[in-house]
Amino acid sequence: MPVETTQRRDAAARPWFRARSASALLGSIAVFALGSGAHAGEFFTLKGHGGPIMDITVSRESGRVASASFDNSVGLWSGRTPVWLEGHDAAVNVAEFIDGNRLASGGDDFSVLVWDGTNGTPARLKGHTGKVMELAVSPDKALLASASWDGTIGLWPLAGGEPEFLTGHRAGVSAVAFSPDGRTLYSGSVDGTVRIWDIGSRTEKRVLVRNGFGINTIVLGGGTDNAAAGWLAYGAVDGVTRIVDLKTGEPISDFTLDRRPILALARDRTGTRLATGDGHGFITIIDTQEWRIEHDFRATLDGPIWALDFSRDGGTILAGGIASIVYGWPVDDLAEFDPLAGSDPAFLRDPAEMENGERQFARKCSICHALTADGGRRAGPTLFQVFGRKAGARQDYQYSRTLDESDLVWTEETIDRLFEIGPDHFIPGSKMPMQQITGAGDRKDLVDFLKEMTQ
Ligand code: HEC
Repeated sequence: MPVETTQRRDAAARPWFRARSASALLGSIAVFALGSGAHAGEFFTLKGHGGPIMDITVSRESGRVASASFDNSVGLWSGRTPVWLEGHDAAVNVAEFIDGNRLASGGDDFSVLVWDGTNGTPARLKGHTGKVMELAVSPDKALLASASWDGTIGLWPLAGGEPEFLTGHRAGVSAVAFSPDGRTLYSGSVDGTVRIWDIGSRTEKRVLVRNGFGINTIVLGGGTDNAAAGWLAYGAVDGVTRIVDLKTGEPISDFTLDRRPILALARDRTGTRLATGDGHGFITIIDTQEWRIEHDFRATLDGPIWALDFSRDGGTILAGGIASIVYGWPVDDLAEFDPLAGSDPAFLRDPAEMENGERQFARKCSICHALTADGGRRAGPTLFQVFGRKAGARQDYQYSRTLDESDLVWTEETIDRLFEIGPDHFIPGSKMPMQQITGAGDRKDLVDFLKEMTQ
């Protein structure tokens, strides 16, 4: 869990959830067709949260995106415009769509909130005595399961009624998932086990997995019903990413790399891809037909990936972490962002061998910007011949409207200023992530390096 203090969003500047009509909230969903149409193959960001992104979830019904944040709010996005759901008294760890109209969230305030499009005030489900880390909705939408660090799993009848709590884990519960037929629940825990629960009798059936270290996240895949052979993937504190047979617990595949912990797992809706997010900021995309790594790339410059989900059509992987931004990466174009596949893997070189300016660029810019005329496709435009150039002028890059329409010219002064106060202040509305370089000397070295390298 992050311990950094984070800037709080200015609540006064945001639309207040309760003031909005139900239809404005969930009914009039302007479906954000991620990964299709205008957004196909495009890197994008969703900005507005004032703290780290703890969870991202995409509605199966509408394709809509919800983000849970350390800033105590849930963002419900229409395109790039958020509606803020304010009701938690602490960090929100998880958001989960129940159906087209309802959304559940859980947080550090031990609460589960259910937001209903027909009723602006969330229902508050109380009973946990520890943080709520994960939620799952049964396929028939009758039950909401909550994983809590109080060591229990809450089962909440969504039509109303008293909750029940499943006990058996020896430590906090981090993850829950229903089987496709809704009769079985799987849970992962800090105690290092994945357990199987019978929903009908509300009892533990058995332990499926014993991993020495705590389990942070689980995902089910494979069969469409329980009769078909399925798999369970889990990510653990010790960096283990393993896929096991749902019935026997036997390993099917293992993608444990030299990175720990594994913090997030997501599966696309067709079940052909699995994504992992880790403590080093990498996202690994795994082809689940052949069980091989398709892409492995560094998605954040620093800090972990806590939040991960695929867009409804599977074309985009949405990710979040320390930065208060949701990133959307086009899955089929990820090779272009792959550090290992890139033509200029500057950020893989030993920083000790570099001059300061180059080091600044390698660490803070090179993942998104090339310096050469043909920079290949990156998240940002190539900076080749950027000095003296009008902002938004490269033909081979799709700028935001803000940059397109800007009259700014890039000079030593404007680039220095860009990172002195940060792109979000210098050109509000640009797609460029928030970033400041506080040292004047570092900025000067960076600009000098850029002048030399972008001729
Ligand atoms: C995570 C990706 C990312 C990182 C890191 C990043 N940028 Fe950018 N940058 C972008 C994007 C995206 C744009 C296009 C913005 C838009 O269209 O609104 C951009 C635009 C720019 C532009 C304007 C280019 C033009 O043609 O108008 C400059 C200059 C720039 N970045 C410099 C830098 C420097 C210097 C760094 C490192 C200190 C950096 N960027 C780090 C993504 C990034």
